[in-house]
Parts: sequence; C-alpha cells; structure tokens
Amino acid sequence: MSAASVRVVTPADSGAWLRMRLALWPSGSEAEHREDIERFLTGDAPEPLAVLVAEDRQGRLVGFAELSIRGYAEGCRSTRVAYLEGWFVEPEARRRGVGRALIAAAEEWGRAQGCDEFASDADWDNEVSAAAHRAAGFTDVGLVRCFRKDL
Ligand SMILES: CC(C)(COP(=O)(O)OP(=O)(O)OC[C@H]1O[C@@H](n2cnc3c(N)ncnc32)[C@H](O)[C@@H]1OP(=O)(O)O)[C@@H](O)C(=O)NCCC(=O)NCCS
Repeated sequence: MSAASVRVVTPADSGAWLRMRLALWPSGSEAEHREDIERFLTGDAPEPLAVLVAEDRQGRLVGFAELSIRGYAEGCRSTRVAYLEGWFVEPEARRRGVGRALIAAAEEWGRAQGCDEFASDADWDNEVSAAAHRAAGFTDVGLVRCFRKDL
C-alpha cells in the first residue's frame, strides 16, 4: 500500500495547505499565502490551475503539488506544457514515495489537460529537489540565471 493517497484540494484543506505553503515559500507572508489560497478556492486565481494534496493513512495532509500550464518552458517543444509550480512533502513524511505519488497524479492531470510534456524548475543549489526530479523521470534541460531592474 502506498504511503499516501493523492486527491484534489478542498476548502477544508486550507489550514494544512497554508502551513505547507509557508514552509515551501517562506518569503511570502502568511497574509499573502492566505489570499492566494482564498482566490484559488473561489475560482478567482488565474494560477495555479490545479492543486493536489497527499493524505496519509491517518487523514493528515503531508504534501502538495501546485500545477499550471505554461505557453513556454525551457527545453520543451510544445506550447501547452503542464508545469509543476510547487512541490512539497512534510519533512517527517519524506523518502516514503509521497513526492513520487504527487508527481504521478500531476502527470495524469497534465494528460487530461491535453498536454504531452511536463516541466518544472528548482533553485540551482537545491540538490534534494534535483535528485527527486530525476527520480521522478525528469531530465535536466539547463540552468538559467535570472535578472531584474526597475523601470
Ligand atoms: C522534493 C520533495 C517533494 C520529495 O518528496 P519525497 O516524498 O521525499 O520524495 P520521494 O520519497 O517520492 O522520493 C523519490 C526519490 O527522490 C530521490 N530523493 C528524494 N529525497 C532525496 C534526498 N534527500 N537525497 C537524495 N535523493 C532523494 C530518491 O531517489 C527518492 O527515491 P528513494 O527514496 O527510493 O531513494 C521533498 O524532498 C521536499 O518537499 N523538499 C523540500 C521542498 C522542495 O525542495 N521542493 C521542490 C521545490 S522545486
């Protein structure tokens, strides 16, 4: 039996989703994450398009994946690429296949959206993420440096 079952997020998951979002993206404030969650659940957010959560056998949420479809993704040939915008598993639930289960469900979602490519990214120094991406069947397609300036 797998370590967790994966399903679509519901409004009852808001608290756990918020807790995990804060852990994955600590640069966002709690208020910002709360607003993003509310906008998604009321259908007002252009992105993400779908959110999957992983539930352990006790019914506790231990991971999530946020998904979108991008018109362009590095290394891809198609113009509707299923995209992994966020991928997180609670530290105590890691290395038990929960991450893989989220990716498998995300792939099914992408196929159902008519996509035939799935892409993602990670910070250049996040070696755990890179290893987990490769284990889930992704291949490296390059390292990108990002810049900005005020206009
Ligand atoms: C990346 C993450 C989602 C993986 O979740 P997970 O539930 O641990 O993943 P799985 O148990 O399905 O692991 C799948 C495979 O990935 C690789 N892997 C995962 N964690 C690893 C680690 N710490 N070191 C080396 N390989 C690792 C292994 O090959 C593993 O298979 P194995 O356990 O049979 O050896 C999780 O580590 C996480 O939330 N990290 C912090 C947030 C993050 O960096 N997210 C990605 C942002 S781009």
